[in-house]
Amino acid sequence: MRHLLKRISILFAMAGAVILVGWNVDAEPNRTTLPELAGLVHYTTVRRGNVTEHIMTTNEAIQAVKNGQPVPAGTHFVLVDYRDGEIYRTFVMEKGSGWGGDEDRRTGDWQFQWFKPDGSVNMAENTARCQSCHSSRADEDFLYTLDALKEFNGAVID
Ligand code: HEC
Repeated sequence: MRHLLKRISILFAMAGAVILVGWNVDAEPNRTTLPELAGLVHYTTVRRGNVTEHIMTTNEAIQAVKNGQPVPAGTHFVLVDYRDGEIYRTFVMEKGSGWGGDEDRRTGDWQFQWFKPDGSVNMAENTARCQSCHSSRADEDFLYTLDALKEFNGAVID
């Protein structure tokens, strides 16, 4: 009997682990990659208290937006969050052809990820939160700083 109870408790522990993994489904690595920052154009800076955000994207995306076209597939937008002069975290949105067809996507063909300063994914973050907030910008290609991008003429908008 004790043996049986032990087996049952092991089964419950395993089921619990499976449920936990399932629960964290949005925190798994998705298709978003961390690009080389040196290849991107820093177009605006947002400051809030001790937080300084450098926001950047590709030259191709800037040209597309200025020409009134959608941001092309393959584009990264990166928000580097600095605190006290050090990178605290890096937020990335990446657009890919057909990516909106993946499960649980509500932000067009964009996917989102939070990278730690060492380049690894923050597995504690549920990227559904990113999607949910950026959904309110659906008519601006899910971007918050589209106006700055339109205005950008080579000098960082601060
Ligand atoms: C509560 C709303 C909210 C949530 C949640 C949120 N964002 Fe944003 N995001 C913003 C706002 C507002 C900006 C504009 C910059 C600013 O004001 O800090 C922004 C800007 C960005 C940008 C720069 C491009 C743009 O849209 O202008 C990226 C990249 C980004 N967020 C990625 C993410 C990622 C990745 C997550 C989740 C880990 C996330 N965001 C979660 C509101 C949000």
